[in-house]
Amino acid sequence: KKVRFYDEVDSTNLVAKKIAEEEESDGLLVVSESQTKGKGRRGREWSSDKGCDIFMSLILKPKINPMNASMLTILAALAVSKSIAKIVEKDTYIKWPNDIILNNKKVCGVLTEMSTEIDYINHVVIGIGINVNRTSFPNELASMATSLYVETEQKVQRAELIASVVKEFEEMYLVFLEIQTLQPFMKEYNDTLINAKRQVKIIEYGKEYEAIAIGINEKGELMIHDIDHPDHV
Ligand code: BTN
Repeated sequence: KKVRFYDEVDSTNLVAKKIAEEEESDGLLVVSESQTKGKGRRGREWSSDKGCDIFMSLILKPKINPMNASMLTILAALAVSKSIAKIVEKDTYIKWPNDIILNNKKVCGVLTEMSTEIDYINHVVIGIGINVNRTSFPNELASMATSLYVETEQKVQRAELIASVVKEFEEMYLVFLEIQTLQPFMKEYNDTLINAKRQVKIIEYGKEYEAIAIGINEKGELMIHDIDHPDHV
């Protein structure tokens, strides 16, 4: 497995995207000790101090339908969730599509970015940030974010966790490349889905409404039960 380590980068996703454009880099993993411009989803920033957490981005160049690329994020979340659960021996949950939750707080986020043409994928970059050994969070994050250390009071070997995530992901990825559906992974994902059977707020085309989440389908879409229109799932 090819890995490139950095001491400090702006964002491992940005570094990975640049490498993906310039080199034959399918399967390359970019890891950094710190990020000066860690990116979260929806334009948010990802707090990325030095020396204790995991910031990494996996470059993939899968020969699959670009419409199916977002399913890779679901696999990445599942790989991280399984790895954390195994290493810290605690139940982890997934908040659809790709937040990993430990004791009701977020411990990992995934930001997938891709470059596609109409009928093929140039590259996909799966960015994974895991709060591993940090001992505290700034006030505005403390109520929703946590780290493995905060929850277990034990330091986790980052190399072991990275290796596990890559191995778990690769196993599922090889199957996925052949079949391009999440069918074999749905049950495991839905079993740990924190939103399942709970009321969730759906924000769709500017409209907001309450619905009950059921679980993902084989495309990775969250299936909901619309409370106001009970026949419409
Ligand atoms: C989220 O908002 O939940 C997604 C956070 C993703 C953070 C990771 S850290 C490694 C990679 N590089 C980035 O700039 N972001 C992702």
